[in-house]
Amino acid sequence: MKHPIFIALDFPDWNDAELFLKENEFAGVPVKVGMELFYREGPHVIEKLKENNHPVFLDLKLHDIPTTVMRAMANLASMEVDIVNVHAFGGREMIKRAKEGLMHPSTSHEVKLLAVTILTSMDEKTMNKELLLPGSLRTNAVHLASMASDSGADGVVCSVHEARSIKEACGPGFLTLTPGIRLDKTEQHDQKRVATPQFARENGSDMLVIGRSITKADYPHQSYVQAVKEWENGLKS
Ligand code: C5P
Repeated sequence: MKHPIFIALDFPDWNDAELFLKENEFAGVPVKVGMELFYREGPHVIEKLKENNHPVFLDLKLHDIPTTVMRAMANLASMEVDIVNVHAFGGREMIKRAKEGLMHPSTSHEVKLLAVTILTSMDEKTMNKELLLPGSLRTNAVHLASMASDSGADGVVCSVHEARSIKEACGPGFLTLTPGIRLDKTEQHDQKRVATPQFARENGSDMLVIGRSITKADYPHQSYVQAVKEWENGLKS
């Protein structure tokens, strides 16, 4: 993978996604397929992307009883995607079984398992008052990441603002993939906790997911190039 920057293909169908990739010359770039596109198109969209050599993160955020998640993961692994995820809130047993599903003997391809800690659209007040989860965002994200790490996950999806603390708690090899990335920080959309690619790299992110800052930009290719440049600057500092 040239750059660990995944473009979120949040499009209503494959026609729109394919047109976007072609028009903007995004041959072979890492992409993230989420619920919107996958629930419309199914495994067919993954086949198309793999035919065109795109590394694929299939972002379906599974959260169910352990056996169901294990069987679902075996099916996802057979599509030869590169990264899949579960909600860490599913707990230790669910994460262990998810990993087991991915390691099924019929799977030849290595699939990384990430656990979503706390969504980047959530702020501390909502977490405390609506979900009745006490403590800070950081304490909860680090706790969920440590539990996921002990249960066999390869890494987490987390906010940039928690990535460093998670690395310190779980070790440098534990992956952190961070959404909530903005090239222009004044544009938050529905994300509560945003950061630039450079800040992300300097603060412990291993991989980025970028959606609207690229897909809704006037010049998406230029925005992607800018994101890569900023990411590389983060390495130098
Ligand atoms: O457009 P934007 O860059 O905010 O898109 C972020 C993408 O990352 C969306 O597809 C969203 O579903 C996904 N995501 C997220 N927060 C998480 C996990 C995934 O924003 N914790």
